[in-house]
Amino acid sequence: MKNEELILIIDFYGQYNQLIARRVRECNVYSEIVPFTTSIDKIKEKNPKGIIFTGGPASVYQENAPKCDPEIFNLGIPILGICYGMQLMTYTLGGTVNRADKREYGTISVKLNNTSKLFKGFENENDCLMSHTDFVEVLPNGFENIGYTTNCPNAAMQNVEKKLYGIQFHPEVNHTKNGTEIIRNFVYNICECQGTWKMSSFAKETVVSLKEKIGDGKALCALSGGVDSSVAASLLSKAIGKNLTCIFVDHGLLRKNEADEVESVFGNSDVNFVRVDARKRFLGKLVGITDPEQKRKIIGEEFIRVFEEEAKKIGTVDYLVQGTIYPDVIESGVGAGATIKSHHNVGGLPDYVDFKEIVEPLRDLFKDEVRQVGLEMGLPEYLVYRQPFPGPGLAIRIIGDITEEKVSILQDADFIFRDEISKAGLDKSINQYFAVLTNLKSVGVMGDERTYDYTLALRAVETTDFMTASFSKIPYDILEIISSKIVNEVKHINRVVYDITNKPPATIEWE
Ligand code: XMP
Repeated sequence: MKNEELILIIDFYGQYNQLIARRVRECNVYSEIVPFTTSIDKIKEKNPKGIIFTGGPASVYQENAPKCDPEIFNLGIPILGICYGMQLMTYTLGGTVNRADKREYGTISVKLNNTSKLFKGFENENDCLMSHTDFVEVLPNGFENIGYTTNCPNAAMQNVEKKLYGIQFHPEVNHTKNGTEIIRNFVYNICECQGTWKMSSFAKETVVSLKEKIGDGKALCALSGGVDSSVAASLLSKAIGKNLTCIFVDHGLLRKNEADEVESVFGNSDVNFVRVDARKRFLGKLVGITDPEQKRKIIGEEFIRVFEEEAKKIGTVDYLVQGTIYPDVIESGVGAGATIKSHHNVGGLPDYVDFKEIVEPLRDLFKDEVRQVGLEMGLPEYLVYRQPFPGPGLAIRIIGDITEEKVSILQDADFIFRDEISKAGLDKSINQYFAVLTNLKSVGVMGDERTYDYTLALRAVETTDFMTASFSKIPYDILEIISSKIVNEVKHINRVVYDITNKPPATIEWE
């Protein structure tokens, strides 16, 4: 972000790095994560107001331990080292790091020197999350102790003159009391930031810079109805209006009313909105397919074919818009953290469409920031707070083969489930919730009649990263309302079950 105050986060493979970046941004200061291998010249070029070293699993004495250029300490830029970051600072500047007999782990009371600018406004004791085996034994010259615990003599240190600070605990996690305040103190009291990073200014500035960049050029966007592509499209729409074409492929496996909702938002806006009714085409390709991976493959490929055909009708475009967000960028290995997965949004999509450049207006934002921009842009709340929905849609929530009738049964049941969850006020605390149409039929009784119909499964999970998840403990009385409503109102469902499995061992989706 040009012209923004920047806090640069140097990544030493810590597990909470994204959280550090988010905490800094919560203080209205822009932050970016870069690998520890980033050169001094590059760092200078970015002109940060402050630098934060993350934690990390290594020991400074280990062979191949991640280290940055020691020149960084001579730049005169304030640095805060967290955990491994503090140990590295110590080691590089001539102090001693040692290995304790026992790992110190958990929320531990740390005695703080609250005359330090870092702990200004705090009591002299603070609960902090400690997670380390190595510890700083001897401080480097010029440093003074500003915190300790029973087992860790140097839990915090400072060199006021050089503006270098180290803390052994993790301020970025919720388990540390006043954690964000510590970061705020660093950013404001030590780095002297003004705090100009705001989502309202982001939206306005991005629209202006997109206008400048694209001018009279033409842009193309694949709109899925999800948050990211919708927010990206709305920024572009504001910037270039009619020169943007949004292609929305309705593959027929969306949630109830979803396609109409997307059209109601974008169909009446300034952009060229193309809704492609490809429902028959997708269902045709999926006839008799029961294997989940094959379903995914067919839908992925067909999606590209449809998009390609529509794009060809438009002819040459200058820009292809993608809803890539910052976690996608980090996960794809831009940070030093080992590449976790290559995300479908990054460098993915079509090389067959004729365009000059990719535009990714949300590349620097976290999900909650994207949602804020969405609200700024006037998108409706139901769209902005939409839960994640898999690309292959309901195809992987219908176990076994897919028919038009099954899609319609599932859409109706899923709608009731989601509606009742919102009515019960649980929609913000449950992170993903949906219905699954099993291929199990069982006997039931309706009035005086015997039925032999489908079993519907309800899935609801609480999670932050979707890598692990706990099933949501929805109160029985709410489950009862949902179950009777579904069985009464949705034909061909005579039994509802609730999935009480965590991830792992189960996955969130059933297929
Ligand atoms: P699992 O089932 O792996 O799901 O625990 C984790 C998260 O990923 C979503 N998911 C998908 N998203 N295409 C997607 O775009 C897929 O094929 C797919 N499969 C799972 C799932 O909804 C959950 O949020």
